[in-house]
Amino acid sequence: MDKTALLENLAEKVRACKACSLYQGSTQAVPGEGDPNAKIFFIGEGPGFYEDKSGRPFVGPAGQLLERSLSKIGLGREEVFIGNVVKHRPPANRDPLPVEIAACSGWLEQQLSLIRPVVIVTLGRFSMARFLPGVKISQVHGQAKRVKGFIVIPMFHPAAALRDSSIMNQFLEDFEKNRELLIQPDKINLDGQTSEDEGDQIKLF
Ligand code: URA
Repeated sequence: MDKTALLENLAEKVRACKACSLYQGSTQAVPGEGDPNAKIFFIGEGPGFYEDKSGRPFVGPAGQLLERSLSKIGLGREEVFIGNVVKHRPPANRDPLPVEIAACSGWLEQQLSLIRPVVIVTLGRFSMARFLPGVKISQVHGQAKRVKGFIVIPMFHPAAALRDSSIMNQFLEDFEKNRELLIQPDKINLDGQTSEDEGDQIKLF
């Protein structure tokens, strides 16, 4: 089976998932979508109202901001992969519970191992905590780190940016600051970096 078929196979399993109770209050699962060979994987928190209705990630106002930010640096959403920490919408958009995040984590791991992106952009603190536990988003946003073989760039959640103009400025700046890394992730200079560098700031080009 090729990667596209394997990902669709996985998405079908996600649609049938009952590993936590979130499926009960939602319309459908939102497995994620994008280029199976994407170099960049954006990971949000969980589906909201519009995503729950459509079955697609980041299609509401937060998604429109994400798409605009991508297009400003010359990327289309179809060139990246977009997914979430939890695949069913939490009731009334509440924060996902630790038990729900744990129940859903295998899906994200399988997506990551199939797609094998170079860069992971975490959107918001729940997604960031999967890769950079114990840090504060206000202190690390926009700073690329090497984690478990990926380059992880923690960013604010676009929904938070829409609620707060100061976060909006930082969100837009973080895209701009990481423009080259996002456009040419393969050109990251890994010279001299070993696994002991994990957590270090990435040296670009
Ligand atoms: N917010 C998220 O975290 N994910 C989506 O898919 C939409 C909004």
